[in-house]
Formats: sequence, C-alpha cells, structure tokens
Amino acid sequence: MNVFSGTNNFFEIKSTFRKLFSKNMVDGHEIVLYEQAIKNIFNANNVFTFASGRMGFYTILKAIDIKKDDEIIIPSFTCVVVPNAILYSGAKPIYCDIQETDFNIDVSKIETLITSKTRVLYAQHTFGQMSNINKIIEISKKYNLIVIEDVALALGSKIHNQYAGTLGDFGYVSTDRSKIINTGLGGIVFVNNKNYIKNFENIYRNIPYLSETLTKKIAISFIINIITLNPWFYWLGKFINTILSKLKILVYFLDEPFTNKDQISKYPYPARLSNILANIGLSQIQLLNKNLYNRKKITNYYNNILQIYTYDYINSKQNVFLRYSFLIKNRNTWEEKFSKKIDLSIWFKTIASGRNNNFEEINYNIGSNNTSEYVCKHIFNLPTHNQIKPEKLEKLLYELKNSGDIITKEHIL
Ligand SMILES: Cc1ncc(COP(=O)(O)O)c(C=O)c1O
Repeated sequence: MNVFSGTNNFFEIKSTFRKLFSKNMVDGHEIVLYEQAIKNIFNANNVFTFASGRMGFYTILKAIDIKKDDEIIIPSFTCVVVPNAILYSGAKPIYCDIQETDFNIDVSKIETLITSKTRVLYAQHTFGQMSNINKIIEISKKYNLIVIEDVALALGSKIHNQYAGTLGDFGYVSTDRSKIINTGLGGIVFVNNKNYIKNFENIYRNIPYLSETLTKKIAISFIINIITLNPWFYWLGKFINTILSKLKILVYFLDEPFTNKDQISKYPYPARLSNILANIGLSQIQLLNKNLYNRKKITNYYNNILQIYTYDYINSKQNVFLRYSFLIKNRNTWEEKFSKKIDLSIWFKTIASGRNNNFEEINYNIGSNNTSEYVCKHIFNLPTHNQIKPEKLEKLLYELKNSGDIITKEHIL
C-alpha cells in the first residue's frame, strides 16, 4: 500500500534528516512539546503518545484491567489490528453489524450483544465519519460499560466543538502514513475518564521506546516515502518505492495476522513514539486545520459530481472524510480504471482488513453480520489527501456517475 497522507512538507523532511544525526532521536523534548500541542488543540488533559495506534489501544485495555474472556463489542468492519489487540489482552472481540449508510456500528444492535462479560463498547469513526457516539455513551451508562473511541481514521472530527477521541472514557488515534496526519508511524491516546489516569500512567511509565536502529529505519522510510511518492514523478517514484519496500529498506508495522502477542518479535509491543517522529507530529498537528480544509475541498469535488451525500453531511464538522466512501457494483472494473489515475488501494474489503481467511481465529463467524459482509464486497473509497488532484479524475467520475453502478438507494444521508 503506497498511499500516504500527502500533507508532509519539505521542512519536515529537512528537520527529520537533521535529527537522524542527533543524540535525542529516540527520547527527547519534542515528545513533551508534541503532547502539549495535542492537549492544547484538543482541549484534553491526559495525552500519551505511542509507536502505533494499536499499541495505544492495547495499553488502554491493560489500564482498565481487562480479564481473560471479557468481551469487547466492535464493529465487523475494521482493521485486523483491532481484534488482534483484544486477543493479545486475553479478551474476546464480539462483532456488531454496521449500517450501510455511514459504515459505522449499528447502534440498534448493540444491546442484543451485551452479556455479563461485556466490558467495552468500541466507537470506531469509520473513514472519518463520526459514529452515533451519543447513543453509544447512553448505552454504556445503562450497562456500566467503558467507551473507547477509535479515531484512527477521524482525527479532527468534532461534535458541539468537542473532538472525537475526547468524548468516550478513552480515545485513540493512528498517525501512520495513510491517516489524517502522518508521523511515519505513530499513535495518540486520550485518557478522558479521571478514574483510570493513575493506572494508565503506571503502565505507561514501564513501556519501552523502539530501538534506535528501528527508529532510524522508520524515519528514513518517512523521508523516502515523501520524496518517491511526490506527484511530480509519481510513477517512477512509485516504482522505486515498491523496490525499496521489497528490499525491506522501507519499514512499516504490517497489519499482521498474529493472534498471539508472542508472535511479534521484531519490535516491542506496546512501544512509545520516538522523539524524531514526535518532531514531525509537532509540525503536522499545527497544520491540522489546513489539512482538514483541503480534504473537505477534495471531498466536495467528488461529491459535486457523484452526489452521494447531502451538502450538509459533507460539510458537517462531524465528518473529516479521510476517504470519500460509497458502495458500488462491478468494483473490479472501477478499481482498475481509477488505479490507472491514482494510488487507490480500496480500504476494508474484509470484515477485518488485513485478514482474508480463517476468520474464526479472530472469533468471527462468516455469515453472522450480513450488512458488514455486503459492504466489504461493494465498498469503494477515494483518497482525499492534498497530493490528489481531483480534476484529473473528472471524466472518470462522470463516467462512474452515469454508469448506474453506484449503489445509492439506501445510501443518501
Ligand atoms: C479502524 C482502525 N483502527 C485502528 C488502527 C490501528 O492503527 P495503527 O496502524 O497505528 O496501529 C487502524 C489502522 O489502520 C484502523 O484502520
């Protein structure tokens, strides 16, 4: 997957390159500055940074003292690292079906899944569209459950001026190269419920950093990605990028199929964010509003032609549209056409993206959640980062609109 946020700038490359030769590449003051900047922007008191979102999520589960066989209700339309983190903690993912309108958990089905073992309701804001968080919080209060918001795909989305991630008991963000902001790899946790702060801090204190060697590789990968995936020489750059990936010069945390934490041997899990990446985050977080503004502009461009959502839905602050997503017939044909123009890489083609078979290993029974499985077969999503020049897609977007292949009947919001 070559997709990246496309919001990084020359200044970030230069300062990352410089820091490769400094003593404080792994631990250092930029982490404090980055966390403080996040606190200020998101009006949050307790912010902790990690080497990835999944590691932040796993640490949240530890902080609530999750027990073996405790149950966590998640949507059956997610990334495989989510159920994996639950399995690493000893708990069980329980899958709730989604709505085909916004790809978020179907709140009308949550209560049927609650048992005496349920501990957590997982509020994932899919593709940057906010889930029905108020209803999820209401149900959590009725059954005394914890709400964890997954803001991996929705950084900056807000309701009544309060940001996603700060609404539930906990929230976490991913900042890898495909997300709203890109720090190479990275994650942020918000601890909002005061009752858990001490516990979280105690666990966090003992979490290690990534090694200097791995940190260096991640930082070099960040620089190479920005240069090679620049739209000015995109196809040549993409070719070079693919070769460097194959040679394992570029490193990522893959969406591994591992269901046991002991199978992860290449890096500590969980680990903290390295200083050199926090330094990128510091720049990225200051540019968040500009980034979101550009994404909205591109989303509006797509929507003006395809007319899938209402104007108000597109421009609502609740939705940041990391991907402009909809359902489609004949997906393979359209995937091929769009892939000739942009780096498309459609997201979430399976109920736990990154896993393509043996779903029982992550406690999912095929056939159990019909809407999710239907959406996986028909989902189509376009990137909105600012390296995308949507005008280049104009003809193709009209062709798609006129083809009748967009599944709209149940989709207009
Ligand atoms: C919905 C969702 N949640 C969580 C994550 C985890 O983020 P990370 O890759 O930083 O661990 C991802 C990753 O893509 C995701 O798509």
